[in-house]
Amino acid sequence: MTTAFDRADLIEASLEMLADRVADPTPLVYEKLFADYPTYRAHFWRDTNGAVKGEMLSRVFAAILDFIGERRYADHMIRCEIVTHEGYDVDREVFGTFFGHVAATVRDVLGEDWTEEMADAWRDLLVELDAYLKSAPQLGPAPPFAAKLRHEFEEKFATG
Ligand code: HEM
Repeated sequence: MTTAFDRADLIEASLEMLADRVADPTPLVYEKLFADYPTYRAHFWRDTNGAVKGEMLSRVFAAILDFIGERRYADHMIRCEIVTHEGYDVDREVFGTFFGHVAATVRDVLGEDWTEEMADAWRDLLVELDAYLKSAPQLGPAPPFAAKLRHEFEEKFATG
C-alpha cells in the first residue's frame, strides 16, 4: 500500500506502543489540552461521563491513521470538523494544538523508547496537518476560502 506520509510506519509504531501501554489515553491528552486552554474544560459540559471526549479522540486517532495512510477521507474530514466545531464555539487554532497534544502524549508515554526518528516524523506530520487546517473553509460574511475559489474560477473562465 502506498502511504500519503513517507514515515507512516514510525507514526503507526509509536501509536501501537501507546496502545500497548495505556488502556485509555483520553485523560492524558485532555489534561494537556486543558493545561494550555483551561477555558475549554467548560466546552465539554455535556460530557458527564467522558464518552464524548473518548469518542472524539478515537475519531482523531482514526483520522491520523487515514491521513498518513491511504488518505481516503481524513483530509476532508478534518476540514469539515473545523467548521462543525464552530458550532461548539471551538476556535480553529486549537485544532493544531490538539494534534500536538496527541503527539506529546505519545512521547510522554513512550519515555525512553521515543526515538529521534519518531520525533522528526511527528513534527513533520504536525506541519502537514497544519497546512490542511489553515486551508479549511471559513464561515462569516466574506469567506476568504470561497472568495479565493471563486476568484480562481473567474480567472480561468476569463482566459479559457
Ligand atoms: C480532528 C480533530 C477533531 C475531531 C475529529 C473531533 C471530533 C469530534 C466528534 C466526533 C465529536 C462528537 C463526539 C460525540 O458526541 O460522541 C466531538 C465533540 C466535541 N469536540 Fe471535537 N473533534 C476534533 C477536535 C476538537 C478540538 C481541537 C476541540 C477543542 C477543544 C474539540 C472540542 C469538542 C467539543 C467541546 C465537543 C463536545 C460538543 C458537545 O457535545 O457539546 N474538538 N468532536
